[in-house]
Amino acid sequence: MKNIIDVVADGAFGDSGKGCVTNYLAKTGSYTHVLRFTGGNNCGHTIYNDGKKFVTHLVPCGVFHNKRSVIGPGCVINSSKLKEEILELEKEGIKNIRTNLKIAKNAHIITANHLEEDSKDVKIGTTKTGNGPCYTDKYKRIGKQAGEELKNDEILGPMLVDMYEEFYSNSDASNIILAEGAQGFFLDINHGNYPYVTSGHCGPGSVSLNGFPEKSIRNVYIIIKAYDTYVGAMEFQDKTDPLLDKLQELGSEIGATTGRKRQCNWLNLDNAIKAARMSGAAQVIIKKIDIIDQLGTWKLLHKGNKIEFSSSLEFQTYIKKALSEFEVVFSSNKEGI
Ligand code: IMO
Ligand code: MG
Repeated sequence: MKNIIDVVADGAFGDSGKGCVTNYLAKTGSYTHVLRFTGGNNCGHTIYNDGKKFVTHLVPCGVFHNKRSVIGPGCVINSSKLKEEILELEKEGIKNIRTNLKIAKNAHIITANHLEEDSKDVKIGTTKTGNGPCYTDKYKRIGKQAGEELKNDEILGPMLVDMYEEFYSNSDASNIILAEGAQGFFLDINHGNYPYVTSGHCGPGSVSLNGFPEKSIRNVYIIIKAYDTYVGAMEFQDKTDPLLDKLQELGSEIGATTGRKRQCNWLNLDNAIKAARMSGAAQVIIKKIDIIDQLGTWKLLHKGNKIEFSSSLEFQTYIKKALSEFEVVFSSNKEGI
């Protein structure tokens, strides 16, 4: 048995286009598994499959490509929302979900109390999906695990797996796993702008916490956008710059989970470099270059300066130079990579 893992993680505040990139890799790469390793249905991953738009919240994108798709023990699960998502995908014609989708027995369950508690949040601007309270109970050691809670569930019960059996028990097997990240580096509870963070760990290191040694990680893709966005209670957008509202419109920057407007700002290149370095990125994929090109104004923040460029080429050349230790790829909104 050998596990080889490629990780797709977000180097900003979420919503950078992980869904699109992961789906492209799952479709074109020789992966045996797609793994969700953190978060819950606070995610919203927009995926274009055969020209059709899907928004997934917890189901890994492997189900679109007939691959084993595992919700790992680092995740938190709202079981009724998960069932809704499965039924919706089935209705849309996605096949074999019930055999391909697996749920780690030791993932934690979001309860009605977690939802109730999260619904009262005003301080952080959470997605109100019960994610934070569920992780809180997990670490207080009073949480509920999927194995016990879902074993009698007609749909989810048969999907339960033990991570060791799934990934280590067959000594002849070689698993090539695509780890589909959630949230983003600056929403990570250790690395983000605490307390304006999520309650989990969003970087590639978090994959290991699901039962894989660090040395199983072959490649890390860090995804950012050509500009920054953030949803939550923190002041983020420079209100004096009307072009940022225009970016919000052009990029349809509206939360896929919450329906809230995303605050926009120019790309903070110092943040991007930090996230890529601390995540061990090989490649940095910069999405939505087509959107900033439509705006026709190219600005970014670097080393305390706001720098304006006269063309997309100048903008891209500057970013490539600043990120020269990584392979940098510019990509448009709906493109895979
Ligand atoms: P994907 O995977 C964007 C943000 C929330 C809030 C903070 C804490 O789609 O990129 P939480 O509900 O997690 O306790 O909220 O984190 N947040 C996200 N923002 N995309 C996400 O996921 C997010 N998941 C959480 O808006 O500011
Ligand atoms: Mg999102």
